[in-house]
Order: sequence, then C-alpha cells, then structure tokens
Amino acid sequence: MAYSVPKLEDYSPASVDKAVHELLSAVKEESLAISGEASWKEFRDRWMARKNGILTQVNDLWLKAAPGPAKRDVGSRVNQLKTEVEQAVDAAQQRMTASASIGRLDSEHLDVTLPGIRRPLGAEHPMLRTMNEIVNVFRAMGYSVADGPEIETDYLNFEALNFPPNHPARDTQDTIFVAGQEKKPQRDRLLLRTHTSPVQIRAMQATPPPIRIVVPGKVHRADTADATHSPIFHQVEGLAVDTNITFSDLKGTLDHAMKALFGSSVKTRFYPSFFPFTEPSADVQVTCFKCGGKGCRLCKMSGWIELLGCGMVDPNVFKFVESNGYDSRKVSGFAFGMGVERIAMLKYGIDDIQLFFQGDVRFLGQFV
Ligand code: DAH
Repeated sequence: MAYSVPKLEDYSPASVDKAVHELLSAVKEESLAISGEASWKEFRDRWMARKNGILTQVNDLWLKAAPGPAKRDVGSRVNQLKTEVEQAVDAAQQRMTASASIGRLDSEHLDVTLPGIRRPLGAEHPMLRTMNEIVNVFRAMGYSVADGPEIETDYLNFEALNFPPNHPARDTQDTIFVAGQEKKPQRDRLLLRTHTSPVQIRAMQATPPPIRIVVPGKVHRADTADATHSPIFHQVEGLAVDTNITFSDLKGTLDHAMKALFGSSVKTRFYPSFFPFTEPSADVQVTCFKCGGKGCRLCKMSGWIELLGCGMVDPNVFKFVESNGYDSRKVSGFAFGMGVERIAMLKYGIDDIQLFFQGDVRFLGQFV
C-alpha cells in the first residue's frame, strides 16, 4: 500500500511541520511492523525508491512546487525528513540482522558445560596383560625377547628338541599337521607349533652363547575345548645358556619370577618331571596363593599349584646347535615354559579358559 503524500495546504512552516510529522509517525509505525528481509526491502523501497518513493514524491510535490520564498525553509525540513527516514530504514535493517543472528545463536546454541561423549576405555586383554607381565619380569633380569613362526617344521618343533621320530613323547602333544605333505621327509613337514620351545633352537642357531631369551607366543594343539583346554593358547618360553649355569640358577630365577608374579610370600618347589629336551626336568609348583598352603578347592587340597615346566637343557639338544658354539662340555643352560592362560586364570580367578577367546565385553570390561 503506497502512501499518497499529503498535499500541503500552504507552505507555511506550521503546515510543513504537520505534514512532516504525519510522515514521520507513519515511517515509525511501519518500521515496527517489519518481520524479515522481504518486508524490510518493501519498506525501504516504498520510502526511498528513486522513482516514486515517498521521499521522491515529497521532493516533487513539496519542494519543487514551493514558491521561491518558502523554498529554503521547506528544503531544510524535507532534508530533515529525508535524514530521519534514512535512519529509520537503517535502524530497521540493523534490528532485522540482529534478530536474525539471535535466531542463529539460538539454533546453534552450544552448552559447553554439558559432559562430553564418553568413549568406553579400552583395556589390555587379560591374556596379553599376563603375557606382558611375565615377559617384563624376565626382561628386568636381562633377558631379551625372541619370537618364531606359528607354523613350524617337525624338525624344530620335535626332532631338534630331542623328540626322535616315533618317540612316544610326541603323542603327548596332539599335533595339528598341515595337510598334504606325505611326500616330504618327516623333518620338513609343517605343523602348527605345539609349544614355543622350537624358538630355543631358532635362537641358538642364530646367536652363539651366552644367550638369555624369553619367547612369548601362540601355540596349537588338537585338544577339544573345555573349561581348561583350548586348541589355541599361549606360552612364554625361557632359555638361558652360559658357562657354569646350574640348577641353582634355575631355581633362583624361577623362584624370583614366581614371587614377582604372585607375591613375595609364595614359596616354590621343584617336582621331578620329564621333558625330552631337559635333563633333569621339573615341574615348578607354588604354594597356593588362595589358601596359603593349607589346602582348598583351587589347589585340590594339596596346598600347591603346578605352574610350569623347566629343566637343564639336555646335551642332546645342544648337539643340534653345536656348530654355533653350543658345546655341552663348555656351556650349560636351563629352559622353562609356562601356559599364559593358565597363569592368568589362577591370578584372576577365571574358571573357564574359553572366556579368553570369546571376546565378550562383559568379561573383558572387568579388566579395565
Ligand atoms: N614345551 C613344554 C610344553 O609345552 C613346556 C616346557 C617344559 C618348556 C620344560 C621348557 C621346559 O622350556 O624346559 O609342555
């Protein structure tokens, strides 16, 4: 709706003032009704458009038409009106952009005091944690870490560890062989290593004595899964060879390691055993850390818990690496091997080995 600019009755200051005031109150009223960019533009053009805007009309109808003597006075009032209209248009624009940015502030409102999105903390798997703990106990005694492949030759997994072909000791490790190798000589046949012990041979082939290594790793056996058996599990192997290594060194080393892992109050005992690659061999037992040796369900009322196998390296094993400096008349050594899951189960009171392999966060979350 366009204003028709009031016609001036005469050019006296009073009637010009009256008409100016009429227009000023109109511009004010209209500017308050502005609701957005489109209505502001409409407002601006109605008042300020060069062609036929209200100010232009005022110019034409009032100023140009004013008689000579009144021109000066009408001119200054028209100028004033012009300034005020321009200010009203500017102010309306500012109000509009301000309210638009308030709207933006509202819609992009960010409450920095809200708690962030919490990502659940990851945790080291209890098997790896135990494995690292064991490895670190031996690293602190100067052992280095070695590893070997999970697919191994019959030679390294058995023969060089003094399990001769067809020896009944092989049957104690229900081996998973790679299929289709019947044409190969037995020692070259591949299998999933049944223990980490072949890395003893690999390490002695690579490094002349003295040697002190620990070997963390995954092993496989054709065992049916139950609460204490799994076809996949992990071991940490150890080997120390030097001049004058005795069974006392073995005892002292493993006694220290068991105290570091299970607490300084545990006692160890070395129980005669057999492994083809050590002579003599022993099973290491620790006093039950649940009942302290009195006898409970965990230790099957014996007061002792069997933790690992060990022994003095059998001279027959050194024969396989004699060319690299392992002359059993000059050097001696000890070796040991332990099951990581078994130790973790005892340490943490876990009653089913399958829990290590199921990836159930309800189980794993307890180790955060
Ligand atoms: N390799 C043996 C096993 O898997 C464990 C073992 C026993 C390793 C005695 C050794 C050792 O190095 O000396 O049952």
